[in-house]
Amino acid sequence: MNGLWIRGPTRMVGQMTVSGSKNAALPIMAASLLTDQPVRLSRVPELTDTATLERLLRTLGMAVERRGNQVHLETLDCRPVRADRRLVRRMRASFCVLGPLLARRRRAVVPLPGGCRIGDRPIDLHLRGLAALGAEIAIQRGHVVARAKRLRGARIDLTGPRGPTVTGTANLLSAAVLARGTTVLTGAAREPEIVDLGRFLESLGAIIDGLGTDTITVRGVAGLGGGDYTILPDRIETATLLLAAAVTRGAVLLTGAAPEQLTAVLDCLCRAGAAVETTATSIRLAMSGPPVATSVVAQPYPGFPTDVQAQWTALMCLSEGVATIRDDVFPQRFSHVAELRRLGGQLMRRGAAVRVTGVEAFCGGTVAACDLRASAALVLAGLAGHGETRIRRAYHLDRGYECYQEKLTALGAKIARIAPAAEAVIR
Ligand code: UD1
Repeated sequence: MNGLWIRGPTRMVGQMTVSGSKNAALPIMAASLLTDQPVRLSRVPELTDTATLERLLRTLGMAVERRGNQVHLETLDCRPVRADRRLVRRMRASFCVLGPLLARRRRAVVPLPGGCRIGDRPIDLHLRGLAALGAEIAIQRGHVVARAKRLRGARIDLTGPRGPTVTGTANLLSAAVLARGTTVLTGAAREPEIVDLGRFLESLGAIIDGLGTDTITVRGVAGLGGGDYTILPDRIETATLLLAAAVTRGAVLLTGAAPEQLTAVLDCLCRAGAAVETTATSIRLAMSGPPVATSVVAQPYPGFPTDVQAQWTALMCLSEGVATIRDDVFPQRFSHVAELRRLGGQLMRRGAAVRVTGVEAFCGGTVAACDLRASAALVLAGLAGHGETRIRRAYHLDRGYECYQEKLTALGAKIARIAPAAEAVIR
């Protein structure tokens, strides 16, 4: 069932609980390799990405057991150091096992994660940082081969050409907790998912200062214990559900959310004309009428998230006026533009930006999803569109949105999965 069928327009109305964060869960699960004690994680979303990492961790000698949104992890065998190529190829974030493997097992062989639909995604900062911690690193036959005695603390700058690296910060933070001495990460990512990883490591006994700032200091410890930890809410799922309500002129109440982590998106929604109310853990949004054209620039946290850029573009397609959406993090991340055009959007790509001239409505049509967030943008267009929208290759959505079909249906969507044969005929 790789395709998706949506009949619009429908107003998204109702209450929904946000799932745990994919981008926090993945590095936290990988960091469980750092301890021999059992770890119990709660609110781990059930996604193909988390399932892929569960499989990878099993191949690396861990017992991994899932009960609903709880995942129990325990290292049984400390010897495996080679990450399976097929699993790493499936998901870039599996590269997050590199730092923990090296720190705990002193050796790691991890396939290069390779290119990606959303643009060039190098790993030079990960490797340079691990080398600064004392690792010997070589690239052999498409693999990163790293070895070290005990890592030693160092001062490492993680500022890349487009700001900090998120998974690079995760890899180095995880590696540094078991290093001898103190590590100072400058130009570190400030994303809430990195803060969550740091809090998890602290709960196991790591000593970390400066989480949420661009300078993180880690005092290495000899070993970590086990424990229970609850993953933070998914701010990208939250934003996507809010945008689903905004684009369909609906009204939703999202609970179990973390509005303070979405300030940039909530500000833009208000500027676009949405009525937004928040408590510490909930967000209520109502939208009537077309959105006001609101330009955004995707930047590292606390800026507007690149992972919401495509969905924002879908909303702006129905705005009154002209908006520009620029992506400073991934300047090539515009695979959704051509597909939104097929659904009636008026968009013009110019380098790292797209200029969107609002139209009255999306029409239905057949489109192909190219990556996770581009797929979400197409779903939003389908929900608001007049007629039937069919999305091919919608399996990307299962990588990042837990039970999205059930959740959208509960909010009023007419949405169904369709078989590959049906999608093939439709196009
Ligand atoms: C993570 C998120 C992804 C999000 C992205 C940016 C996870 C699993 N994925 O991806 O959803 O879109 O952050 O918020 O958390 N760069 C370098 N050298 C490096 C590493 C990165 O130059 O060694 C550049 C990249 O090309 C990019 C920028 O840094 O322009 C940010 O990339 P990065 O933060 O590393 O993205 P990911 O961690 O892969």
